[in-house]
Amino acid sequence: MRLQISELNEPDYPRASEIVAESVRAFWSDHYDPTVIETVVEQNTPERISERSLRQEDYLARQGGRAVGYAAVKQNEIGHLFIRPDAAGQGVGAALVAYCNEVIRQGGYDTAKVYASRPAIEFYAKQGFLADGEKSFELKPGVFLDSVLMTRPLGD
Ligand SMILES: CC(C)(COP(=O)(O)OP(=O)(O)OC[C@H]1O[C@@H](n2cnc3c(N)ncnc32)[C@H](O)[C@@H]1OP(=O)(O)O)[C@@H](O)C(=O)NCCC(=O)NCCS
Repeated sequence: MRLQISELNEPDYPRASEIVAESVRAFWSDHYDPTVIETVVEQNTPERISERSLRQEDYLARQGGRAVGYAAVKQNEIGHLFIRPDAAGQGVGAALVAYCNEVIRQGGYDTAKVYASRPAIEFYAKQGFLADGEKSFELKPGVFLDSVLMTRPLGD
């Protein structure tokens, strides 16, 4: 099915929010504590996505018109990459990463970076990213999300 990637606009904030919730509940349950997962869901309501949109560029991937993936770029960092579970394994994540890499390259940067969640490390390695350290984010008091900093040179 044809994949389209475009800027995320306000009418689609609820779609992006749903994608995050479905994705973390499906993909993170073997890797993170339920408190971490539900905190990420709480921090990705349409209202929170709207607030963040002032500080980053958000993108939505649609397959046959249906919203299936969400990603964001802030300076040279890719963030908030989430794919709907029933659309996973079809190249949507890889296409969003390639799109974000191009946005970053056009922004004048020669390296892209991402703080990868544990279950996404191998996925990012397949997209050419190399591990470059660890970082734990305190999502709210006492709730920590462990991640791995990964970087990828973008070339000319
Ligand atoms: C990680 C994630 C973005 C992958 O998205 P996806 O659309 O299923 O990935 P793709 O279909 O584009 O896969 C591209 C390649 O990575 C591989 N891949 C995908 N997910 C993988 C995983 N969890 N572990 C290892 N390899 C993976 C695919 O097999 C494919 O390999 P190939 O190029 O050899 O065919 C998706 O599983 C997801 O949303 N996870 C939960 C949220 C998350 O952790 N996001 C990252 C936050 S930093």
